[in-house]
Amino acid sequence: MKNLIPFSFLLFFIACAPKSSNDENTLAKISDPEVMKYAIAGKTLYENHCGNCHQSNGEGLGNLIPPLKDSDYFKESIHRAVWIMKYGQKGEITVNGKTFNQEMPASPRLTPLEIAQISTYLLNIWGMEEGKITSSEVEKYLKTKPPF
Ligand code: HEC
Repeated sequence: MKNLIPFSFLLFFIACAPKSSNDENTLAKISDPEVMKYAIAGKTLYENHCGNCHQSNGEGLGNLIPPLKDSDYFKESIHRAVWIMKYGQKGEITVNGKTFNQEMPASPRLTPLEIAQISTYLLNIWGMEEGKITSSEVEKYLKTKPPF
């Protein structure tokens, strides 16, 4: 019986140890079930359509692919981010003080709902809590080109 006490302390420590902020854990911070539904679908879409370049952890790739995690450029405008997902992006941009000049291909087959789900995922992890982005918001954003 005596031996159980240190063992339960150990379990307690394992359960409470701070988890690293990788993508699995960040989804767990979403409490609104509507946001969660979109974010789960968005995570899969992100892995399939974006993760190869921007990486699962959103950190991008060196000087070639800009980060999405903690990206000032991404956070500046949801309208522009939605536009980029559908229509791609080329030309020089500055992300967190670093210059990028590659081409991101358009994804014309992504639907407004899919873009809404990807956006909801990306805007509610890594410390952000922007709530649900709806497909009607996305449709509205895709009608007018935002300032770049
Ligand atoms: C083939 C690689 C590739 C894929 C796939 C891709 N991107 Fe990009 N993305 C880029 C590159 C390269 C840039 C920078 C373009 C430039 O230099 O002008 C970029 C720029 C961006 C930006 C603006 C800059 C920033 O980092 O904030 C956003 C937002 C973005 N991408 C989101 C996405 C999302 C969401 C997806 C999936 C739907 C996606 N990208 C798929 C390569 C890619």
